[in-house]
Amino acid sequence: MENQYIIKGGIPLEGEVTISGMKNSALGIIAAAIMTDETVTIDNLPNVRDINVLLDAIQGIGATVIRVDEHKVLINGSTISDIAINHDAVRRIRASYYLLGALLGKYKEAKVVLPGGCAIGSRPIDQHLKGFRALGASATVEYGMVNTYANDLIGNHIYLDVVSVGATINIMLAACMAKGRTVIENAAKEPHIVDVANFLNSMGANIRGAGTDKIRINGVERLHATEYSIVPDMIEAGTFMIAAAATKGDVIIKNVIPKHLEATSVKLIEIGAAVDEYDDALRISSNRRLGHTQIKTLPYPGFPTDMQPQMTMLLALSEGTSMVTESIFENRFKYVDELARMGANIKVEGNIAIIDGVAGLTGAALTAPDLRAGAALVVAGLVAREYTTIDSIKYIERGYECFDEKLTSLGAKIEKVPMDDEKAIQKFKMTS
Ligand code: UD1
Repeated sequence: MENQYIIKGGIPLEGEVTISGMKNSALGIIAAAIMTDETVTIDNLPNVRDINVLLDAIQGIGATVIRVDEHKVLINGSTISDIAINHDAVRRIRASYYLLGALLGKYKEAKVVLPGGCAIGSRPIDQHLKGFRALGASATVEYGMVNTYANDLIGNHIYLDVVSVGATINIMLAACMAKGRTVIENAAKEPHIVDVANFLNSMGANIRGAGTDKIRINGVERLHATEYSIVPDMIEAGTFMIAAAATKGDVIIKNVIPKHLEATSVKLIEIGAAVDEYDDALRISSNRRLGHTQIKTLPYPGFPTDMQPQMTMLLALSEGTSMVTESIFENRFKYVDELARMGANIKVEGNIAIIDGVAGLTGAALTAPDLRAGAALVVAGLVAREYTTIDSIKYIERGYECFDEKLTSLGAKIEKVPMDDEKAIQKFKMTS
């Protein structure tokens, strides 16, 4: 049975919240973990659906996966017996493509069902395939599967035509056991690229320059066991920052790397919220209506596309007219219609949203169109007058660990109830 969230809005969030490990790092790291035949220990793993699907997928081809607890896993790739991944759940997660790079790097062959993920644009993988081919592999797409094969992988100079997180990580994976030296130019610089590179290096890979636009990889013959802890999730943290500001609350967000959140912090300060930085925490507070601004999503260190819906939602309540330009994915404003049902005044023209701030939103029955937009709608529900319900929360659960519990611990009135369970909804309304 599907669940939905029911939210009673209007309560300022207050208190402390601890951020989980970064989903997008963890996906690359789990794929990388199967590249050694020794046992790898991964800690600070977020307990979210995308991660569990990827763990199932590697188990499906024979890898040994032992859950020590909900945030710690042991992975051993020596038992892998298949290089073809074609189970249904994998099709739904974007990061299944990392298994291409990992299996190709280790076994020189991989067949993986063409990845899905959030429907936020066309999401081609041509740059991934271009990278594999540059290393000497064949790479074709047939019958819904990506097939790649090489006699030998040989290092090469690769210039990415577009800055792509996925292609950068995938090429790093394939190249770290190739013969000789690979250089990736115009590489993406996101913190999760650095995290995956650090993880591979802790397994004995030789990757330099991750976090800059030129990554140099000297191939090694084998990778070995390691113990590794994943960095905090900057998008989860950013979402809580927006939730604190939108509800005019006062929240300390723990287990973060403030540097990773700079693009969001700077914008929040610009529109009038208070952001205090500590070593591994941030405090966000606001006691008034925020102002307007202009934002354009860009590759890191620019404003992240994964924070665009949450920020647009905040600006929908801010004073004056704001403009948000989405330059990474062409179809990432679908949630705007949902916000309109709450009274927001947003006009989308192509990849630009023009937002006339309104003084308040009102509760409505909403559907989450994708992961980050779903989170933005939850925040809208926390601000809106009266009750909001949100369906399709399976999208939100792909990437936010215990979202409702964490919000409840900050004083929010939110509950997960079975879809259309009128009794549960009535009970929630009576008690909140
Ligand atoms: C990753 C993140 C996603 C985030 C995005 C941008 C994961 C699992 N997902 O997605 O949450 O929103 O980075 O920060 O980590 N492109 C091509 N050809 C390619 C690859 C990409 O044209 O071969 C284009 C895309 O259409 C897009 C842009 O490059 O316009 C950036 O995409 P990319 O960075 O690859 O995003 P993902 O890795 O899919």
